Amino acid sequence: MHNKTNSNGVYQYDENSPYFSDFYQLYSKLIARDFGDGKKVIMVTSATEGEGKTTVASYLAITSALASSDYFVLIDGDLRKPMLHKRFKLNRDGGLSDILMNKKRLTEVINKTPFRNLHLITAGRNDDKPFQLLRLNETKELLDRIRHYYKLILIDGPPIIPVSDSLRLAQIADGVIMVVKAGKTPRTVIKRAIQLLSESGCQMIGVVLNDTQKVLPYYYQHSYYRYEYSTTTHNRQRKESR
Ligand SMILES: Nc1ncnc2c1ncn2[C@@H]1O[C@H](COP(=O)(O)OP(=O)(O)OP(=O)(O)O)[C@@H](O)[C@H]1O
Ligand SMILES: [Mg+2]
Repeated sequence: MHNKTNSNGVYQYDENSPYFSDFYQLYSKLIARDFGDGKKVIMVTSATEGEGKTTVASYLAITSALASSDYFVLIDGDLRKPMLHKRFKLNRDGGLSDILMNKKRLTEVINKTPFRNLHLITAGRNDDKPFQLLRLNETKELLDRIRHYYKLILIDGPPIIPVSDSLRLAQIADGVIMVVKAGKTPRTVIKRAIQLLSESGCQMIGVVLNDTQKVLPYYYQHSYYRYEYSTTTHNRQRKESR
């Protein structure tokens, strides 16, 4: 992943990038199999911190936008540890928190990115505690206002176990993708996170196994990412794409 950001950690990515085909496959599957009938809000989360949520949400958003003629928006829903403004080199001020606190209008917080058809809403700055700010109806209403402009609305969410904000966002999203960093998080912790998500009533649409190179046997070492649907049983091995 280090070779895909410049020295400031800002994304450098185009259709020729080594991971484009991985994320394009993920996007195609989402569109083809899971998401239709007006479903378009996807939250990316993980059981614990540092498993690759921001990375996966960002590359999925960039790839989808580059591959399509529709518009996409990426929202920083991690109000405690926002990162997207840094990765996309944007000003953090004026974002999700500011709309939820009625300090800004929606049109004021939608940023263009260097990537064609991709917009971004930063986390903004909040006075309230994130869980209090992310009120169910208000946040839902906000997403409903932008729903028809975008093909997909991707939310870079907080982790599940340490904070409850992500369960609130999971209730609001149409589906959740869980990122699991290979070899890092104990199975019991992952199971607990999945249980919490399912109790919140959200639709788990898949699991991305991140950074598989370090832990999987050689015959799996073709990709940084593996994606599985929670509703299917077969495992798929991706072709070399780097
Ligand atoms: N597949 C990968 N290969 C190499 N580095 C990676 C990979 N995925 C993520 N990283 C790196 O790991 C670090 C954590 O990733 P990232 O910020 O995406 O995780 P996160 O789950 O959003 O973390 P947080 O819980 O702090 O928000 C970053 O420095 C990122 O560049
Ligand atoms: Mg993050």
